[in-house]
Amino acid sequence: MTDTTPPIYLGLEGVYAAESKICKVDGTAGKLWYRGYPIEALAANSNFEETAYLLLYGKLPKRPELDAFTGQLKSNRDIPDNVKSIIKTSVGKAPPIDILRTAVSALSAEDKELTDSSPEANMRKTIKLIAKTTTIVAAIGRMQSGKDYVKPDNNLSHADNFLYMLSGSRQDKKAVKLIDLMFILHAEHSTNASTFASMVTASTLADIYASVTTGIATLKGPLHGGADEAALKMMRSIGDPSNTETYINDALAGKQKIMGFGHRVYKTYDPRAKILKAWLTDIDNIAAGDQKRLTQITLIAEKLMIDKLGQSHGIWPNIDFFAGPLYTWAGIPPELFTPIFGAARTVGWCAHILEYWEHNKLFRPLEIYTGPLDLEYVPIDKRK
Ligand code: ACO
Repeated sequence: MTDTTPPIYLGLEGVYAAESKICKVDGTAGKLWYRGYPIEALAANSNFEETAYLLLYGKLPKRPELDAFTGQLKSNRDIPDNVKSIIKTSVGKAPPIDILRTAVSALSAEDKELTDSSPEANMRKTIKLIAKTTTIVAAIGRMQSGKDYVKPDNNLSHADNFLYMLSGSRQDKKAVKLIDLMFILHAEHSTNASTFASMVTASTLADIYASVTTGIATLKGPLHGGADEAALKMMRSIGDPSNTETYINDALAGKQKIMGFGHRVYKTYDPRAKILKAWLTDIDNIAAGDQKRLTQITLIAEKLMIDKLGQSHGIWPNIDFFAGPLYTWAGIPPELFTPIFGAARTVGWCAHILEYWEHNKLFRPLEIYTGPLDLEYVPIDKRK
């Protein structure tokens, strides 16, 4: 390397790659806005359908607009037979997040508008994707427990219908509210790894199914969306609240990362995690047995980690820290946490893809080549 070597921003840290009106993350103040609305206001007052409309269309809907949008989501919930077959033949073999990725990719086979790249057709495809990814996740959950596909109930909201399709029966209002909240909080988060990956695919003018498939593939990793399942696994291996302090001390002494902590942008408490912590504290007050142990481990680990790494290192809880114990309370198995995240984030991926396509520019960064040049080509039989 010489003084004239251009700087490399590893992991594209600190690099701005686009302008956007969709979402702002203030990592210093710990604030998040969707289309200018604070996440706390949406979490308290909105629902997933309205939030999805806001993210896609850039404004809160009037009643007839929301009714029409909700109707379109409902009429697109059911999934084609080829996708059901993929799910059925994959459960028990592949992790649910991989099945979701393959199933979403297969949706393109049934879309007659696949090659229509008009903004109107792309919005219709977006609505199909949002509706069907949620159904696919419910179908994966059903079929992996050996049960049959449950057809969507169009009298129910997005979250209510998800729990109904997953469990085969109506769930209580608090569980529905929690799932609706999870969908809102996971719907969007600016140019995170999976959103950026989906934008890269979209920037080649590949279709929106290809782009969302890329998003799901990227979400899988434990440094990103897979952290929710990994965090729960850690809490399970702690086992009992009394073991928490020793576990955290040993993990940090061994330079192990604590899943659900730390963030590239937030150097303070993730505002989504704050909302979920309030929920978990509420559930801790009524929990018993295994759920009580789990909520206690989570709350003790959170306090210990903040004491050790919060102010001093800027490593604070992110949304994935509290998600697992809350999903567990709602009866969701761990392998579905990240797929649910993907179903919700489909909104954000599509919103960014549609926005980026308005002024598309192929993503194509450079690298600094550090290997040799002009080597002599030796025929295979003469190589030493
Ligand atoms: N536990 C312990 N130490 C941590 C943690 C953690 N969770 N996160 C970061 N650190 C430490 C690193 O070890 C590193 O220390 P060092 O400088 O002594 O080597 C330093 O903080 C910087 O960490 P990086 O991983 O280099 O920071 P980066 O910005 O690249 O990573 C990331 C952010 C990947 C989220 C990281 O904090 C992490 O791995 N967290 C755990 C996984 C997780 O929760 N991911 C979900 C993020 S939210 C989301 O995607 C929905």
